[in-house]
Amino acid sequence: MASTRRHTPTARHLGVAMLGTGFMGRAHSNAWLAANRFFDLSLPISLEVVAGIDAAESHDFGKRWGWKQSTVCWQEAILNPSVTLVDVATPNDVHCEHAIAALEAGRHVACEKPLAGTLSDAKQMVAAAKRAKKCRTFVWFNYRRCPAVALARQLVQEGRLGRIFHIRAAYLQDWGGPSTPLLWRFQRSKAGSGAHGDLNAHIVDMARFITSDDITEVVGAMAETFVKERDLVDATDGHSRRKGKGKSTVDDAALFLARFKSGAVASFEASRVATGNKNCNTIEINGEHGSVSFDFERMNELRWWDNTVDATRRGWTTIHCTESVHPYAGNYWPAAHSLGYEHGHTSMAAEISKSLSNEPIVAPLPDFADALITQAVLEAAMRAARERRPVSVRECLAD
Ligand SMILES: NC(=O)c1ccc[n+]([C@@H]2O[C@H](COP(=O)([O-])OP(=O)(O)OC[C@H]3O[C@@H](n4cnc5c(N)ncnc54)[C@H](O)[C@@H]3O)[C@@H](O)[C@H]2O)c1
Repeated sequence: MASTRRHTPTARHLGVAMLGTGFMGRAHSNAWLAANRFFDLSLPISLEVVAGIDAAESHDFGKRWGWKQSTVCWQEAILNPSVTLVDVATPNDVHCEHAIAALEAGRHVACEKPLAGTLSDAKQMVAAAKRAKKCRTFVWFNYRRCPAVALARQLVQEGRLGRIFHIRAAYLQDWGGPSTPLLWRFQRSKAGSGAHGDLNAHIVDMARFITSDDITEVVGAMAETFVKERDLVDATDGHSRRKGKGKSTVDDAALFLARFKSGAVASFEASRVATGNKNCNTIEINGEHGSVSFDFERMNELRWWDNTVDATRRGWTTIHCTESVHPYAGNYWPAAHSLGYEHGHTSMAAEISKSLSNEPIVAPLPDFADALITQAVLEAAMRAARERRPVSVRECLAD
C-alpha cells in the first residue's frame, strides 16, 4: 500500500489516476492519451493507474488504454505517489467519497458530471475543495469544448447577439425505453435523478457558459417516469439481466422553465425516451441583434443569424467550425476534416494540463464551485416539479 502522506503535486508531469472503466473511462483514457499528441503541453500527461471493480476487466482495460497499472482498490490508486490528479469517472453516488478522498490526499480532481447525485453531496465536495487550498478541481462538462459551442460564447461576448431574450435547450435521447434494464442510471440511490441530472446538467451548463449568465429562478417544471419497472440486472457486473423486475426511481424525462439574471427566459428539456433522437443536444439563443443555434448531431456547425446585416442579405449562416482560427480546431485536422465526440474530451484534458501549468486556455474550465451552481439549478427544478411552485436557485444554495 502506498504512503498516506499528504502529497504536494509536482510540476514535471501530470500523473493521472482514473476511477471507473465504463463509457467515460474509455472517453477519458482516450482524451488523456490524445491530448499529449494534439497539443503542445508543458505538463505532459501520464496515465499512471486505473481503478475498476473487477480485477480481470480492470487489467484488460488498463492494457488496452495504456495505463501503467490497474487495481480494484480506488484508495490505492489515489495514493499512488506518481499521481497528481484523480479523474472520477464513476457513478454519481460515489463522486463525493472519491473526490473528497483525492482532495484530502492533496490531488487535483477532474470529476464527471453531474457533480454529484445530490445537492448535499455537491456542497460537501465544494467545501472539501475549499479546504484543499493547493488542489484544483474540474468538472467534465465536455460540450463546452466543441468548437461551435466555444464560438457561440465568443459571439455573445463580442456583443454580436446583443441583449439576450430567449434560451431554448433540449437534450434528447431514446435509449431508455421499456426494454432497457434497471441499470444504475435508473436508481435514484446511485444516480440522484434520471434524464434530468444526466442530460439537463449539460444543457444548463452550456447555457450558462455561452451567455456568461446565471439562472436565478425555476418558474415551473415537470418530471415523468414513463417506465415504472425494469428488468433486474446482475449485482456484480451491473448490466446483464437476471430474473424479475425492479422499480425505476428516476425520471425518464424532465422539463423546466427558468429566468436568467439578465432577464432572459429559458426552457430546458431532457428525455431518454424521445424516440428517434440519439444524442440530440441542442441550444438556440435569440438576442436583439442575432441568434445562434447548435445541434450536437451536427457538431461541427454553428448556425448564426446576424440581424445587423442588410435585410436583403439576412439569413441563417452555417459556419463549419473546422478552420484553424476556430476554437480548438487548429489542434486537429485541416479545414472541413470534421471533429467528433472524443475531441471535446481531448481538448478538455489538454486545457486541464495547461491550466495547471498556468498557461492560457481557450475558455473557462468549470470547477466544483461552478458545477454547484448548475447542481442547484437542477435541484430547483426538481423541487419545482415536486411542489408545483417557482423555486429560486438561491433557496437551494442556502439550504
Ligand atoms: N460527460 C459526459 O458526456 C458523460 C457521458 C456519460 C456519463 N457521464 C458521467 O460519467 C460517470 C460514469 O458514467 P459511465 O457512463 O462511464 O458509467 P458506466 O456504468 O459505463 O461505468 C461506470 C464505471 O464505474 C466503476 N464503478 C461502478 N461502481 C463503482 C463503485 N462503487 N466504486 C468504484 N468504481 C465503481 C466501474 O468501473 C464502471 O465501469 C457518471 O457520473 C455519468 O453521469 C458523463
